[in-house]
Amino acid sequence: MDHVLQLVYLLAAVSFMVGLKMLSRPDSARRGNAIAAIGMTLAIFATIFLFRGQDGSHLGNLPYIFIALVVGSAIGYLMAKRVQMTAMPQMVSFFNGMGGACAAMISLIEYGHLSHAAESGDAALFQTKIPIILAGLVIGAVSFSGSMVAYGKLEGKLKDLSVRGQQFVNMSFLLGILLLSVLFALGSLDGVWFYLILGLSLVYGLLFVFPIGGADMPVVISLLNSFTGVAAACGGFLYDNYVMLIGGILVGSAGTILTVAMCKAMNRSLTNVLVGNFGGGGASGVGSAGVEGTTKEISLSDAAVLMKYAKKVVIVPGYGLAVAQAQHVCHEIETLLEDEGVEVKYAIHPVAGRMPGHMNVLLAESNVSYDKLVEMEDINPEFKSTDVVLVVGANDVVNPAAKTDPSSPIFGMPILDVEDSRNIIVLKRSMKAGYAGIENALFYEPQTFMLFGDAKDSLTRLVSEIKSN
Ligand code: TAP
Repeated sequence: MDHVLQLVYLLAAVSFMVGLKMLSRPDSARRGNAIAAIGMTLAIFATIFLFRGQDGSHLGNLPYIFIALVVGSAIGYLMAKRVQMTAMPQMVSFFNGMGGACAAMISLIEYGHLSHAAESGDAALFQTKIPIILAGLVIGAVSFSGSMVAYGKLEGKLKDLSVRGQQFVNMSFLLGILLLSVLFALGSLDGVWFYLILGLSLVYGLLFVFPIGGADMPVVISLLNSFTGVAAACGGFLYDNYVMLIGGILVGSAGTILTVAMCKAMNRSLTNVLVGNFGGGGASGVGSAGVEGTTKEISLSDAAVLMKYAKKVVIVPGYGLAVAQAQHVCHEIETLLEDEGVEVKYAIHPVAGRMPGHMNVLLAESNVSYDKLVEMEDINPEFKSTDVVLVVGANDVVNPAAKTDPSSPIFGMPILDVEDSRNIIVLKRSMKAGYAGIENALFYEPQTFMLFGDAKDSLTRLVSEIKSN
């Protein structure tokens, strides 16, 4: 039986890797997700039915396990079905927090078992396992409380909070937790300190995430995600369970890679994200130095004519498209223009929106064909031959200050070179800044026209204009 269980675990581990690989392409992502989910289901049921303890006994408490499975699956299914695309980061954060809590609970329960074993004379087992139990406890607890704060902030229920000397306090907490953990593992502290370390770790998670600017949360969530992976891997070590170990390591490494990739695409270091308080949600419209001039507005009918008689139109989606939920009407414009013989493409910036792949997911939801979604490096040379760029609720990702203004907070961030095109139409509601809180000189360029209003509303009216022109 044990061989069958190990074989199922191997299959499950392979399914995680294949699924993860498939998640990197929009056209295979759904299948990848399904494959990994099937692997996880197999691993869970194989553990329930095939696992044998050292004394050969089956897993106990089956009714409780099944009740928890049914209730948990129902809640997860309903949450995933109901969540709005713009609320996805907070849901990821919530689920991640639950993972961290599970890892911390495993450590709590196993600490109880081991203490019992130590009292009955098996002190060696206690000594070998306690470091891994502590690692799971601390990392899982930090991930849980940190993720809950991230969730609260993204839901708008909690505000950024930092006090003078916060970084010093945080560092002291972290060093204190590490020191206590080492002393505990060496056997210099008694049992009550275990619970104290848990409490300190929970508080550290709160202190760690509270000061970070709301809009930086995706990076932090990804980092906490990798923490949860490591905490789950600790559980794998504890139980000698390979599938748990591999799953945890995959989450840990994928989360780390994603964190680094997001920082790179924003041209910021992780330290700057964690202590910089950049883009703290307070986009004020006051901006980087040297932006002067006036903007020009365009009427709906002029915009419609410009696009209808163009040879090539590139649509640049941004966070505002997600806020306005304008993806369906955007697809409608695309098909209308194509019917008129216009070539239409979408320019996808790696950090457009507020989470990785935000634009791909939104546009896929409205059935935009994947081959029309062109990555930044590939579309940039094409702007020179583009007649009209339609910027839909994007701002920072088309801000030329990233290339020209060394004093700008986004200087060095790779951007879409939309200023190379012949005409630019910008859809936004006002002259307010985007996430980075800075002015955008693009809006003052001679070939740029502003179309103010909610993106969905403006696009809907543009559809009618294109049809009637
Ligand atoms: P932003 O720079 O945030 O600009 C979005 C623009 O959309 C705003 O200027 C806003 O202007 C407009 N807008 C908002 N609601 C709208 C609506 N209903 N209708 C029309 N326009 C609307 O977005 P971006 O260009 O996509 O850049 C993303 C930013 O987020 C980058 O700075 C990036 O570094 C950051 N970030 C991204 C990620 C990931 S992984 N994607 C993670 C963390 C941070 P109005 O208010 O005037 O309408």
